[in-house]
Amino acid sequence: MTDRLTITRPDDWHLHLRDGAMLAAVTPDTALHFGRALIMPNLVPPVVTGSDAAAYRARIMAACPDGASFTPMMTLYLTEGTDAADLVVAARDGIITAVKLYPAGATTNSASGVRDIDRVMPVLEAMAEAGVPLCVHGEVTDSKIDIFDREAVFIDRVLDPLRRRLPALRVVMEHVTTSDGIDYVRAGGESIAATLTTHHLFINRNHILAGGIRPHYYCLPVAKRETHRLALVAAATSGDPSFFLGTDSAPHLDSAKLAPCGCAGIYTVPNTLACLAQVFENEGALDRLDGFVARHGAAFYGVPVNDGTVTLVRTAAPQPVPDDRATPEGDLTVFDPLVPIHWAVEG
Ligand code: DOR
Ligand code: ZN
Repeated sequence: MTDRLTITRPDDWHLHLRDGAMLAAVTPDTALHFGRALIMPNLVPPVVTGSDAAAYRARIMAACPDGASFTPMMTLYLTEGTDAADLVVAARDGIITAVKLYPAGATTNSASGVRDIDRVMPVLEAMAEAGVPLCVHGEVTDSKIDIFDREAVFIDRVLDPLRRRLPALRVVMEHVTTSDGIDYVRAGGESIAATLTTHHLFINRNHILAGGIRPHYYCLPVAKRETHRLALVAAATSGDPSFFLGTDSAPHLDSAKLAPCGCAGIYTVPNTLACLAQVFENEGALDRLDGFVARHGAAFYGVPVNDGTVTLVRTAAPQPVPDDRATPEGDLTVFDPLVPIHWAVEG
């Protein structure tokens, strides 16, 4: 039995850091374990221009502890008013790494998102030409579509037609939650990849709804039935470079989660690596953890792997769930995977 595992310093290819007090509270957790993270732009107001991204990047750097070796990789929030020229210059100058498509109304702070994909086609064409990847929140927002079907319907109605129209566009299907998404990405060739979150490898919809409603497990896309979770675990641990970690760690104060209309999002950064080590151990795939967390995403985004390493140790006793984070505005609960985790990051 392996009881120490040293991996390349990993990347988180989908992360919400927020702003203000929350940014200050959560950034040190990411900077401790990760070399880079792709920072989601769904602030209020959203990050829509190159100069917004540069300013947000500076605020993130200011929230990093001294001596941290962490680089935020920025994204722009695609709107129907996005200026293609500004976007291409921001990418060329290394200010942004990707652009995020939120269908309007799909999730937290998505009101400025895209209602009609035809209206952003000129921007998407410019991105394809310049090689800027599009990160997609892949859910339709049609209220007639059942929430558990929204990812599968998005593939058929939006994503596949878009990719046929613009085959040169490089796409990341973010936080895939269904076997439909896994199958689509597996068959999709080199122009598409997918991020998988930590929490979707642990929870299915029963965890949210059976035996009482558990707001801390509510996120978007919502967790699906167990067969889908098993497909996600198989993909993550398969070694297929199309799949890599994007935690979608999305901090909301407990007061916003535990409310009559609670926010979607789970804060997973502090125990993500430990939880993932447990999943990969369970699948007999510890040798593939390095690829999933540190290599596949870097290859897709065309950046070198990080310098440095992180060491995980296997512990005889299960590890406690990390303590809630206290922020000046209230507490933030850390993800409880609900199964014993026998791994911890050393140091
Ligand atoms: O659960 C989620 N939370 N899903 C998202 O797509 C957005 C995120 C957030 O920003 O809170
Ligand atoms: Zn997200």
